[in-house]
Amino acid sequence: MIIFNNEFMERRDATVDIEDRGYQFGDGVYEVIRVYDGQFFCLKEHLDRLVRSAKEIDIDLPFSRTKMEEKLTQLVHRNSLENGIVYLQITRGVAERIHHFPDNMTSILTAYTKEREPAVKEKREGIKVSLEEDIRWLRCDIKSLNLLPNVLANQAAKRKGCAEAILHRGDTVTEASSSNVFIVKNKALHTHPANNYILNGITRGKVIELASKLNIEVREEPFTISELLSADEAFISNTGIEIGPIIKVDDQQIGVGQPGPITRQLQKAFEALIPVKSVSN
Ligand code: PDD
Repeated sequence: MIIFNNEFMERRDATVDIEDRGYQFGDGVYEVIRVYDGQFFCLKEHLDRLVRSAKEIDIDLPFSRTKMEEKLTQLVHRNSLENGIVYLQITRGVAERIHHFPDNMTSILTAYTKEREPAVKEKREGIKVSLEEDIRWLRCDIKSLNLLPNVLANQAAKRKGCAEAILHRGDTVTEASSSNVFIVKNKALHTHPANNYILNGITRGKVIELASKLNIEVREEPFTISELLSADEAFISNTGIEIGPIIKVDDQQIGVGQPGPITRQLQKAFEALIPVKSVSN
């Protein structure tokens, strides 16, 4: 069962209109929300961000927020999803293909569930990443459907045998193709500030909250490529992997080449927020 064109239906019955502006222009916004043990994780935060993203590009939500929450919860129950994700997107709707958009469009919600096991191996052993130029637009704070630069950066990383692409604008590390980036230097956590150059990750927010509780200093300030390469520890954060230790950036080992103690501490604290224990290291 999926939600398509704002209704519940079987996936095989969904037909995208060729003039859906999401399809033609990437004119829409999306979210990926985790479900653990049949329950949403950080649903409120994801919906807050969705509402904000839609507002920033002048899309009206097809339903009230309460109704949306109800429908998404129903979707998870109908599909008996235990552990996985809900992907949802809202496009501006269907109209004749002209770049500007007509007034009073009916926006379209699509949502589906996907079972997904936790990324246990990556979390335990760490990942290799590559550095790629950040060629995205200047409103990366909007979770828009336009992901071509992210897709190309991630593909470049994959070709190099890496799990993620770390993005940089000139010398400054911004974030990664589908995650935020943190480094640890002298026991302090550094991450790019939540401005127009990055997506303000929900996981990022949780990491910062947990760090403060654990008395780990957090500096939301830009850091450079050489600071990344000489960091004691580094990790990425997103809804899928939660906290993924970085052990190598291109050919450069990070720290001792293994997930570091502060990363481990944060992973543990993060897992304690999750209702199931199937994600232990
Ligand atoms: N991506 N930065 C970018 C560019 C992202 O696409 C994402 C998430 C994040 C992390 O956000 P969060 O912690 O809220 O998941 C940061 C999702 C998972 C995706 O596109 O699949």
